Amino acid sequence: MPLRHFPSDFLWGVATSAFQIEGSPQTDGRGESIWDRFTATPGRIEDGSDARVACDHYRRWQEDVDLLAALGVRAYRFSIAWPRVLPHGRGAVNERGLDFYDRLVDGLLERGIAPFATLYHWDLPQALQERGGWGSRDTAAAFAEYADHVSMRLGDRVRRWATHNEPWCIATLGHEEGQHAPGHRDPHEALRVAHHVLLSHGLALPALRRNAPGAEVGLVLNLVPAEPASPSQADAEAARRFDAFFNRWYLDPLFRGEYPADGIEDRIRQGHLAAGGPDYVAPGDLAAIAAPADFLGVNYYNRAVLRSDRVPEAENAPRTIPLPPRQELTDMGWEVHPASLRALLARLTREYQPPRIYVTENGAAYGDGPGDDGRTHDARRIAYLRGHLAEAARAIAEGVPLTGYFHWSLLDNFEWAHGYARRFGLVHVDYATQARRPKDSFAFYRAVIAENAVDDQDGPPPGSSP
Ligand code: FCB
Repeated sequence: MPLRHFPSDFLWGVATSAFQIEGSPQTDGRGESIWDRFTATPGRIEDGSDARVACDHYRRWQEDVDLLAALGVRAYRFSIAWPRVLPHGRGAVNERGLDFYDRLVDGLLERGIAPFATLYHWDLPQALQERGGWGSRDTAAAFAEYADHVSMRLGDRVRRWATHNEPWCIATLGHEEGQHAPGHRDPHEALRVAHHVLLSHGLALPALRRNAPGAEVGLVLNLVPAEPASPSQADAEAARRFDAFFNRWYLDPLFRGEYPADGIEDRIRQGHLAAGGPDYVAPGDLAAIAAPADFLGVNYYNRAVLRSDRVPEAENAPRTIPLPPRQELTDMGWEVHPASLRALLARLTREYQPPRIYVTENGAAYGDGPGDDGRTHDARRIAYLRGHLAEAARAIAEGVPLTGYFHWSLLDNFEWAHGYARRFGLVHVDYATQARRPKDSFAFYRAVIAENAVDDQDGPPPGSSP
């Protein structure tokens, strides 16, 4: 197997998010977020934990920037906590909250690492939730104000901005399935939320353009390629429905200025939308959402293989895609399937033509920790990285405008509803002592970055294309 090279200016990075690593929820005037409230509610988090300490990054950020420098990344994707900047969501700016990010940005730049800021990675100020949260159109206007404040302070140094991380998770996990804050189970509200989040992206663009002239501005979607389990009509239809709900519900408004007609029909049929379609869309909204962005951020973890539950099993075609064996699942239960990353990138390029794409997250939860030799031999994470990077390199060779890759994550951290029970880091964190110890995958990724190439000589891991 050949060494697969990347373009010389390829942006190698890692990603984190504020709530998952920072801790210090009451320091320097930070306000309460919906995730503080959610984690304090009994029964919401698998291991009963919360993120009051997390990785203590708010106090240890310099050590973490040193880790980034040791890894050799060219960029670091982090998120800004809205309740640090505007403790009540709107109104007076808390300068001490902004100071933290100011120091972080300067610390990165001093080490030659490009900051890539995400404005919203799920930590809505609780004060805004009390006024309706993302279910209220006002929150979109509040987000545009917040984006203005942050970019006024950091726009001279931050050259890459993502407005949102994973609108599908905000809408569906937060408001339809209830697994994420604010824990609602209301499919009608979830659709309004999806729209207001997209709208807020559009409303924030002018401020970002004004305050950070020449910077790249975009949005990050979690996309899940859908494949039918068999060639049957029923399974094909299940895959279509999933794709409309998960992927095209976000891609189509952003790139085409419309919600997918088939997805609208599905939702009307389910009784989640009024017969006339989305009645929460005001004139001008879709034009604002579809204003040209500079990049699409893609978070890719897995594919979905769909089997129709609408027809009896016996009437459906036999599976041609077998269920993956357990050892091919990560601790999240997600299938490892690198080939779908390449297929996804090719599809986006073909159907939506984004000017550039960053893989803004990709990674795997494996519980390996330090052994007797003090080292973490996370061979499965190395195989995961190698497989996905090889597919990314192939995609570039085939003409996909992929310009960077951010591994999730630098550190083991607070994995939302799973608490500390899932470890995604290249660096192991001992939560009792906050000791950070790079895993073997850290050394592997450092070598990939240094060589600007990935070597898949050990043969492709499961799910790679030949
Ligand atoms: C993504 C989130 C990120 C992390 C990974 C595992 O959906 O953006 O914060 O939790 O999953």
